[in-house]
Amino acid sequence: MSRTAVLVSCAELPSGDGDDDAVVPALSALGFSVSWAPWDSDYDFAAADAVILRATWDYPARRAEFLSWCESVPSLFNPAGVVRWNTDKSYLVELLDAGLAVVPTALVEPGSPASFPSSDFVVKPSVGAGSRGAARFASGADASAHVAALHAEGHTALVQPYQSSVDSAGELALVYLGGLYSHAFAKGAMLGSTMDAAGLYLEEKLTPASPPADVVALAEDVLDAASALLGILRAELLYARVDVVRGADGRPLLLELELTEPSLGFRQADEAAPMRFASAVRQQLA
Ligand SMILES: Nc1ncnc2c1ncn2[C@@H]1O[C@H](COP(=O)(O)OP(=O)(O)O)[C@@H](O)[C@H]1O
Ligand SMILES: [Mg+2]
Repeated sequence: MSRTAVLVSCAELPSGDGDDDAVVPALSALGFSVSWAPWDSDYDFAAADAVILRATWDYPARRAEFLSWCESVPSLFNPAGVVRWNTDKSYLVELLDAGLAVVPTALVEPGSPASFPSSDFVVKPSVGAGSRGAARFASGADASAHVAALHAEGHTALVQPYQSSVDSAGELALVYLGGLYSHAFAKGAMLGSTMDAAGLYLEEKLTPASPPADVVALAEDVLDAASALLGILRAELLYARVDVVRGADGRPLLLELELTEPSLGFRQADEAAPMRFASAVRQQLA
């Protein structure tokens, strides 16, 4: 029995950036007929068995439109409710309030004045991807103009102390498929590099990694807490990426929980990872 799986992208990169190339033969081997389609194209998403968000990197400027499209798709992974919660980084404050170790995060709503940490800090939009709109400031700098620019675009601004471990150790990204740990990779510092040609995301420097136990323990706690907040089982998350940095005291801290369209680092993973992904898709449909 052939089922259809569509990997969802955006008009600028209709077949993604290459990261997901290996999942296509894996899904085909498990009996899926696979194609790519931009979310805002006229593809018949309602007729597909599995509609999988993979490269919808243009949603931040059109979030309301994107979310209503997500809600119109019956078999979406991850589901629309997860995408709604996860596409606004205010979820970081919810996870902080739930007692998790998260990079200290202050939200500055449009109309509210900002205050800045005494260390180096980062200002970024609460709805954003690919590092767009994120900027690093030196301690004591006045970032009000950047906050005002984000507010003018309708964004809430997020202010965080800059975690300098990103420059030395980088960020660890832990990938979960169907709620189970799959693989991990490391990402070099992003702020300070240059925009890619399409202007969609900053080019990332990725290498394979095996995360230490304290980092895995945090990622597991984050997934449990996020599923509880969302009222779902961990296994209902087809994919999740937990991005972790170390704080000044060496403790692992959550920087981002990506449940929408994370790059999953298949090019940095073991060769069985794409088949784990395909198997997790079948499990969601079972
Ligand atoms: N508080 C921070 N400390 C250090 N680096 C940061 C911080 N916030 C963001 N960055 C850098 O900016 C990049 C993008 O920020 P992130 O919060 O991951 O948003 P997104 O990936 O959704 O654009 C990160 O990968 C990291 O390199
Ligand atoms: Mg990120």
